[in-house]
Order: sequence, then structure tokens, then C-alpha cells
Amino acid sequence: MHTAMKLKDRVAVITGSGAGIGRASAMEFAREGASVVLADIHYAGARETAHTIAQMGGSAHAVETDVSNPESVRNLVRETLRVYSKVHLLFNNAAIQVNKTVEDTTVEEWNREMAVNLGGVFLCSKFFLPHLRATKGAIVNMASVNGFFVEPMCAGYCATKGAIIALTKAMAIDHGKEGIRVNCICPGYIDAGLAEGYFQAQPDPAAARAAAGKLHALWRIGRPEEVGRVAVFLASDDASFVTGSAYVVDGGFGSGLPPQS
Ligand SMILES: NC(=O)c1ccc[n+]([C@@H]2O[C@H](COP(=O)([O-])OP(=O)(O)OC[C@H]3O[C@@H](n4cnc5c(N)ncnc54)[C@H](O)[C@@H]3O)[C@@H](O)[C@H]2O)c1
Repeated sequence: MHTAMKLKDRVAVITGSGAGIGRASAMEFAREGASVVLADIHYAGARETAHTIAQMGGSAHAVETDVSNPESVRNLVRETLRVYSKVHLLFNNAAIQVNKTVEDTTVEEWNREMAVNLGGVFLCSKFFLPHLRATKGAIVNMASVNGFFVEPMCAGYCATKGAIIALTKAMAIDHGKEGIRVNCICPGYIDAGLAEGYFQAQPDPAAARAAAGKLHALWRIGRPEEVGRVAVFLASDDASFVTGSAYVVDGGFGSGLPPQS
């Protein structure tokens, strides 16, 4: 049976789509018919994602972007409109993670993490909102279960993710009457760059990786496309009455500690 594509004729901007969850999400968006703008500071990665989408028969355009830089984000908006004329969806996914305590985090690391993770959501939302208003579009922000339940050695990261959950709700109530929906996703451990970096920062990375799986009720870490599918849902009309939500995609991480053997 043929199922209709959920994002047909939509233009979606996805930040941090040169790798990991952003790349997997971009491919899910393209499969559902969206034209995708791939915004990443790692331009080669974004171009590779664009190439893969083109090979699938989809439409994609890579734009080198630093989400922490207002000029760079303004350029992303210009490029999006130049290539596709309009924009319906913004997925603020880009982030970095400093794997340190507050005491060990340098002032420069702190400022950069705030500027990319939280500042990036602010800047992209700020500059895309006028155009999303025109299409009654939707924003999906990437938070984390670490916005609710924190873990050791990533204090600044957890702070940004908690703030993104609050910012999501604030934007949802500010822009709901304009027909713009704003939601965020809170994943557990996902097999992608930031989780890998966290494992590598532990004394025994292999043991940390194995232990992380067992923190989830499903006893494994997630796959990037399992988050991408939820991003598609939140971006699509299937979620037409969903706004201000923090959508948990965590394999049961937040349900409690499962039996360890
Ligand atoms: N991997 C996990 O376990 C996990 C869990 C919960 C939430 N998340 C969130 O998912 C998102 C993606 O994580 P991932 O693990 O796929 O990471 P990743 O490192 O694999 O990919 C992140 C991408 O963002 C890009 N990026 C970094 N700084 C940028 C900037 N200033 N401007 C534009 N692009 C920039 C990187 O170049 C990279 O391509 C992040 O918001 C992260 O916090 C990840």
C-alpha cells in the first residue's frame, strides 16, 4: 500500500546535518519529500549528506554555517531563500559537548558551548521566524534527556539542554497564535558523535559504552535514524496539535535504572 510522503513540498533547514543525528534526520526528511538545507560548520560533511540525498533522488543544498555567528546565520537564511524561495521547517540540531566539570571547564570552552548549543537555537530561530510565519512553519529543537537527568562530567552541556527545553516552551507560547509550532526532542544515548566523545572522555571508553546501553530499558543505545523519525513526526502535520512539548526518545532511560544483568 502506498503511504503519502509526510513532508512533501516542504523546505527544511537542519543544522549540524554534516554528521550523526542531523545527517540521519536529513535523510529521513528527504525520504518524506522535503527539500533539505544542510547547515554545518563542517562543510565537507554537509556536502556529503547533500550528495547522499541527491543519490536517493532528493533535493538538498549544503551551506557552511556557524550557528553561533549572527552573520553566518543571516547568510544561511539568504541562501535558503535564494535556492528554495521559502522555508517551512527548522531543526536546530547542532551542538558541541565539553566533557568536564564546571571547575575544569575553561571560560572559553564555557562561552563556546553556550554560544553554539543555546545561542545557535536563538540565532537560527530569530532569523528564520519571519519566514516561518509566512508558511505557518514549525521548529524542532534538539535538547536531551540531560535536560532532565544530568550525568557526571558534562555540566555546561546539561545546562544548555535544560535551557533549550525552557526556550522551546517560551517560543511555543510566543508564536502559537501565529500558527507556528515549536517542540524539542530529548534523546537518550544515540550512536553518534557526541555520545562517542563522552565515552572517549571516560577512563575506559569501551566499558563506558557497554554500561550506557544498560541505562536504557531497551538495554541498548539508540540509532540516529530513530531520532530522525521523531523529528519527521514533530515537523509534519501528524503533529498539528503538538507544541511546547519535550518529546522523549530515550529507550526508557528516564523510566528508572533497569536490572543490570
Ligand atoms: N549522540 C547522543 O547520544 C545525543 C543524545 C542526546 C542529544 N543529542 C543531541 O543531538 C544533536 C546531534 O548530536 P550528535 O551526537 O549527532 O553529534 P555529532 O557531533 O555527530 O554531529 C553534530 C554536528 O554539528 C556540527 N556543528 C558543531 N558545531 C557547529 C556550529 N557552531 N555550527 C554548525 N554546525 C555545528 C558538527 O560539525 C557536526 O556535524 C546535538 O544537539 C546533541 O546534543 C545527542
